[in-house]
Amino acid sequence: MKTIVITGGTDGIGAAFARHRLALGDQVAVVGRDKDKGGALAGLGAHFVPADLSLVAENGRVAVELAARYDWIDALVMGARYFRTHRHETPDGFEACFALEYLSRFVLGRSLLDRLERAAAPVVVNISGPGLAKPEIHWDDPGLRRGYSGPAAQMQAGRANDLLGLAFAAEHPHVRTRYVLLNPGPVATSFAGEYDPPTAAFVEQMKRTARPVAELVPPLSALINEPPTAPLSAFAIDRPVDPHTTPGDAAAAERLHRLTLDLLATGR
Ligand SMILES: NC(=O)c1ccc[n+]([C@@H]2O[C@H](COP(=O)([O-])OP(=O)(O)OC[C@H]3O[C@@H](n4cnc5c(N)ncnc54)[C@H](OP(=O)(O)O)[C@@H]3O)[C@@H](O)[C@H]2O)c1
Repeated sequence: MKTIVITGGTDGIGAAFARHRLALGDQVAVVGRDKDKGGALAGLGAHFVPADLSLVAENGRVAVELAARYDWIDALVMGARYFRTHRHETPDGFEACFALEYLSRFVLGRSLLDRLERAAAPVVVNISGPGLAKPEIHWDDPGLRRGYSGPAAQMQAGRANDLLGLAFAAEHPHVRTRYVLLNPGPVATSFAGEYDPPTAAFVEQMKRTARPVAELVPPLSALINEPPTAPLSAFAIDRPVDPHTTPGDAAAAERLHRLTLDLLATGR
């Protein structure tokens, strides 16, 4: 029996995966905001942790709660996301997509590493978009105060997660915990968010051709049943891809790591 923590576990890929692992008899914690969706999974045996992960302090609280509940964690699967056509700032002062889809994963991966290291074959799966070229981090304006768009925020979060994988492996060279970046490709999920009408229409069209969520369960399960041997790896569904996308990735990962520590210390 494995202990699996899933952020974005109340819907989409995370919820499908939670239901599958609960049926196998695993101990599953799902983190999300929606109490009805969380309650439905709790009815199947999940531990529902209600939290708004776009708030830095909530990530700390969730990590403390999970560490108190579980002696070890076999897998941390991170898939919370939320699209916004219009820029939104969290009460912490961060652009909301950057906060939810990147800062949360930065904080949880580090905060739960101690519990992961106690497991037999621990793995972090960061569901994002590795293997695709993306624009560089907006180093002088990571909050996208200038030139925000929903897609630009999503692309920046994707790039930040690519670099997070590299930074995690560089920061923790001797851990047993494997870090995996997983690109699920287009999947027909809830696509949680606030869309303007043209974007909403585009998303509905995309959902009609995207693969069903159930198709992501086997490759995700395989990563957890038998984590890759490399400290950092990346997959497009079940196909290995290079976790590096530009020659400057290592330097960018270190730069983002330092910037993130600074942002978390000072707030923006
Ligand atoms: N679907 C795709 O085509 C696709 C493609 C590439 C990458 N991905 C990546 O795959 C992962 C999963 O995506 P998905 O499409 O399965 O997601 P989804 O169906 O849109 O569900 C989003 C999840 O995030 C949670 N969430 C949203 N805001 C939150 C907040 N402030 N605090 C805590 N939880 C929050 C939602 O929970 P509540 O409703 O409970 O708040 C929900 O469980 C994401 O990282 C996404 O970027 C997906």
